[in-house]
Amino acid sequence: MKNIIIANWKCNPENLEKAGELLAKIKDKISDLSWSGKIDVVICPPFPYIACLNMEGTDIKLGAQDCFWEDKGAYTGEVSPLMLEDIGCKYVIIGHSERRKYQKETDQMINSKVKASLLRGLKTVLCIEGSSQIKDDLKDVSKESMGNLILAFEPIFAIGTGKPCSVDLALKENTEIRKIIGDSLPILYGGSVNSSNAKDYIEKANYNGLLIGGASLNPEEFFKIIASLEG
Ligand code: PGA
Repeated sequence: MKNIIIANWKCNPENLEKAGELLAKIKDKISDLSWSGKIDVVICPPFPYIACLNMEGTDIKLGAQDCFWEDKGAYTGEVSPLMLEDIGCKYVIIGHSERRKYQKETDQMINSKVKASLLRGLKTVLCIEGSSQIKDDLKDVSKESMGNLILAFEPIFAIGTGKPCSVDLALKENTEIRKIIGDSLPILYGGSVNSSNAKDYIEKANYNGLLIGGASLNPEEFFKIIASLEG
């Protein structure tokens, strides 16, 4: 299975100019690597930047950090999977713990979002803090429609804290998740990933990729993470 590295920029950077500069630096840094074809690199900027970023000359894919469960209608403030597809978004993150916390997203809402984005053909990255959430978040999602599903194990204590999950615990959770979802879907690890620990989650804890917050805003560090997985 190909490794997937996803940059979650969260609510950063503070303007479009800086977003363009950040992307340009990342493109420039990773252009020398022979990662193309071996690792899928995805960047998930805030909504307003997605359609404005210059993705020419790179294999990096774009993703969003959330989407709604309806394609259109009277839903003030929402962005639909249809709109994301239309502007060239290939990936969407659903159920991030920060949305569960600050936007009070429930498993039921997340379940609706997962179904809608899978139906639209988006690669859907479902974030969970443990295997117990899978049942509710994937309720009534048929095996046949799961082809574009990606799971991301993100322990809350590790998110944005600089306190990464131990490899042992990460491996244990990976095994639990695999028992439920089987062998075919990718599982990512997320939470305080940096260039020193990235490889361990892939090689020792058997993850198929990483969801990276803070370190993805630093082009040098993001590059080092990708480079550490290259060999
Ligand atoms: P972090 O965030 O890498 O800054 O810990 C990860 C995430 O929230 O996806």
